[in-house]
Amino acid sequence: MRFWQNFRLRTKVNIILLISLAGLLSTSLIWQYRQHQRLVFSEASEKAEIIITEATRTREYISRQLQIGQIELNEDRYGMIPVVVANRIGRLVSEDLTYSIRHTSNRFRNPENAPDQYERKVLERMTNRASLDYVAEVTEFDGNPVFRYLQAAYADSSCLECHGKPDESPQFLRNIYPPEKDQAYNYKIGEVIGAVSVVIPIAQIEKRLAHGFNTTLVTTAGFFCALVICLGLMIRKTVVTPLSVLSQTIDDIRQTGRFTEAISRDTHDEIGDLVAGFNAMVSELKEKTGQLEESETRFRLMTEIARDAIVAFLPNGQMFLFNQKAEKIFGYKENELLGESFDRLFLPDEESYVPSLSSFIAKAPEQWFEQEHHLIGLRRDQKTVKLKMSIKIIDTGEYPFFMALLSTLDANS
Ligand code: HEC
Repeated sequence: MRFWQNFRLRTKVNIILLISLAGLLSTSLIWQYRQHQRLVFSEASEKAEIIITEATRTREYISRQLQIGQIELNEDRYGMIPVVVANRIGRLVSEDLTYSIRHTSNRFRNPENAPDQYERKVLERMTNRASLDYVAEVTEFDGNPVFRYLQAAYADSSCLECHGKPDESPQFLRNIYPPEKDQAYNYKIGEVIGAVSVVIPIAQIEKRLAHGFNTTLVTTAGFFCALVICLGLMIRKTVVTPLSVLSQTIDDIRQTGRFTEAISRDTHDEIGDLVAGFNAMVSELKEKTGQLEESETRFRLMTEIARDAIVAFLPNGQMFLFNQKAEKIFGYKENELLGESFDRLFLPDEESYVPSLSSFIAKAPEQWFEQEHHLIGLRRDQKTVKLKMSIKIIDTGEYPFFMALLSTLDANS
């Protein structure tokens, strides 16, 4: 926090803007990435649904044609069994395209249809939960990102011909898959026999979508950068620059003691009010200082026409006025002594004034000020001069000071 307080306003604004830029960019990046993932998912889902619908319709169509043509299935016509047709067509098509489709089951009949690890788990879930019609997700397959879609295949009365009671099944089927070895008999209506399983590599889809993703990314980044730059320029113009002009002006006044021209007020917001307030304050101060300087000049003129030498000093001994007659007595010029101690005008061995003349005066009893005192002055040329002095306390309120009236006792000076 200490660090932060020491930063200039401009740095703070820049830091805040940079942080917001990073925040905005990363949020939009995350959001767009999610959007992208969702798009990949929905594209793949759509594809999978098409493939599955096609396979299912093929199966149903073959099944109907067999009925209409009253075609008896036998070992030679094994390739006409609807599931077999669907699987084989699927295999043929997936050789041309990148996806794969097949029927599988945990109680598989043909070992070629045995489920892989992923399919086995999904099938278990489907068997245990009747409402789970399908599972769709992005996972890995042989180390590649893929979209997998499994749709449950339920047993209806048509299926039971070959998956129901073994003794009601066609003889050729029992020959190939003897009931005592086969696990795909004895299903009941509504039971999950297996699933249609589709695997779609998503690298291709991702590649296609990545281009659009990159374009939006560049556009958003550009947009946010432009936004932040505009904001930065605006804050700089409306806040930072006027404030630094103000503080620069205050600095100038402090260093030179001269009041500057009014700062131009460009806006009517809080900053504008601040500038206007500052200008009003400066012009008021200017006026007051003028009055003060005038009264100071009057005071000085009065000390010059006085008969005595006059030296004015603060309670700590610092001199701030030294009139011409004093200059003549001591041989100093006023500007050599301003701010110096009153004590240096006298010989230091004035025992009665302990520890020093000015500190004595600061605490002297009232009647001391009513009397005249004789002292030995010390001139600039180190010669001494006998002096008569009376001191007055000038109590103007907050800052009292002393005024020493001095005249020489030597007849020749
Ligand atoms: C005419 C007999 C017959 C009918 C009717 C039939 N099937 Fe099959 N089914 C088979 C045969 C034979 C296989 C083995 C396929 C192979 O060798 O690829 C099989 C395999 C399957 C498989 C793949 C897993 C495995 O056991 O190899 C699923 C899933 C399946 N059938 C579901 C169904 C469903 C659902 C129905 C009803 C809509 C159905 N079958 C109707 C004979 C049939």
